Amino acid sequence: MIKDIELIKGARNIIREIKSFSTGAKKTNGEKLHRAQKPIELIEKLIKDSTNKGDTVLDPFMGSGTTGIACKKAGRKFIGIEITEKYYNISKNRLAS
Ligand SMILES: C[S@@+](CC[C@H](N)C(=O)[O-])C[C@H]1O[C@@H](n2cnc3c(N)ncnc32)[C@H](O)[C@@H]1O
Repeated sequence: MIKDIELIKGARNIIREIKSFSTGAKKTNGEKLHRAQKPIELIEKLIKDSTNKGDTVLDPFMGSGTTGIACKKAGRKFIGIEITEKYYNISKNRLAS
């Protein structure tokens, strides 16, 4: 049954099949290029759950480009924007490889 209101004290992983949700990208992807970098598997799941194949996803705060990589894997088009040159270049390199 879905409750109207749910209060959660403290953090808990509500997406159980992706183990590294709370620890970030390092464990699942073996790399950490941005301090707020998300696991590719997590973003891929969210994209698959909320869009259709061929859709375009816009990430205006691209960081290290995780959303773009997840889009490539999931068959979605991607537009990314990043203000910091260092992270823009990291995204560009990750998406090219
Ligand atoms: C939380 S991080 C995104 C992390 C990303 N999800 C990942 O997995 O790497 C947010 C990014 O937004 C960028 N940012 C902040 N303000 C911005 C702006 N006005 N335009 C574009 N990018 C911006 C920051 O430089 C930072 O890299």
